Amino acid sequence: MTKHIGILTAGGDSPGLNAAIRGIGKAATRTYNMSVIGFRDGFRGLMENRTVRLEGNALSGILTLGGTILGTSRDKPHKMPVGGKTLDMTDAMVEVYQRNHLDALVCLGGGGTMKNALRLMEKGLNIITLPKTIDNDVYGTDVTFGYDTALSIATEAIDRLHSTAHSHHRIIVVEIMGHNTGWLTLGAGIAGGADVILIPEIPYDVEQVAEAIRQRHYQGKGFSIVAIAEGAISKEDAKALQDAREAIKNVKDKAARKVAKKHLKTLEASHKGNTDRLTRKLEELTHLESRVTILGHVQRGGTPSPADRLLATRLGTAAAELIHDGVYGVMVAARGDHTEAIPLKEVAGKRKTVPPDHPWIKSARVIGVSFGD
Ligand code: F6P
Repeated sequence: MTKHIGILTAGGDSPGLNAAIRGIGKAATRTYNMSVIGFRDGFRGLMENRTVRLEGNALSGILTLGGTILGTSRDKPHKMPVGGKTLDMTDAMVEVYQRNHLDALVCLGGGGTMKNALRLMEKGLNIITLPKTIDNDVYGTDVTFGYDTALSIATEAIDRLHSTAHSHHRIIVVEIMGHNTGWLTLGAGIAGGADVILIPEIPYDVEQVAEAIRQRHYQGKGFSIVAIAEGAISKEDAKALQDAREAIKNVKDKAARKVAKKHLKTLEASHKGNTDRLTRKLEELTHLESRVTILGHVQRGGTPSPADRLLATRLGTAAAELIHDGVYGVMVAARGDHTEAIPLKEVAGKRKTVPPDHPWIKSARVIGVSFGD
């Protein structure tokens, strides 16, 4: 019996998504005789039943394309903005799944998508997920597709910043994406030879960062590159956030709890502009001219690297095979050269952070990189 499958891409786009769609689609149609449709713009397209056939020519010529041919959004099934209201549209999505006579839905996404996919699974849908994000923070997989491409882009940026920092004897602080994890900054920082690497998992002391730069200066190195993750945080701010979170847990009174929550929100919002503030502070402490470069969305754009195309193809074809075998409710994880089906329940709601004793950190420390701690 022919199986019918749907595919959607959700959350921030990531290089390799089209390679994964192609991998699923070609394996499903050519090897397993399935029919495949895509839903546009993530869970919103599923709710609105906006579909596209993913067969034959639709799957050709997309391997090397960045972004996602399906489009994406950050919409969540249970909190969907509809007509000026925020509604739980999970049941509407279940109905669309049934209307299309689907046997399985493949959701390509990061941590948020894993949680949203689990919600649909709990409503009885046959779900498979694939881990994508430039942040590499999806729990349970060795690596996510998108990470390798973003790593190359961020590394190349650091390479280029070196020559201008060197020529002007400046500090250049380069902000790298990664949400609340430091994988991208750590990888690009080491590969690009950054002198200081600041990641959320290791709160920094600005005095220590300045001291590392001063030491370089005394050794005749007139410039420094500081690679900072967008989520990196000073020790002081980390303590304030932790205290605010504890306060919410401990407060019983409803009104006081509201105030505590508001305080936490204010603290979180004040993180915006952190890289700028750090740069100004470093200039003040070291008396060295300093500049900021924020790499931003350029890290997510363009052609996927060969490693990401390969990974996405491996995971995509494995997903088609799992559907053929009737295995659902899993995320297809990369495990060495193999793939592994991990129960979605074990993945959703967790995040893979950089362990402070990770071997990459050890290597960086022994060659003199400062983590500002
Ligand atoms: O999760 C990928 C990511 O690029 C993060 O690194 C970053 O924090 C976030 O998405 C940016 O989101 P948006 O594209 O919605 O601004």
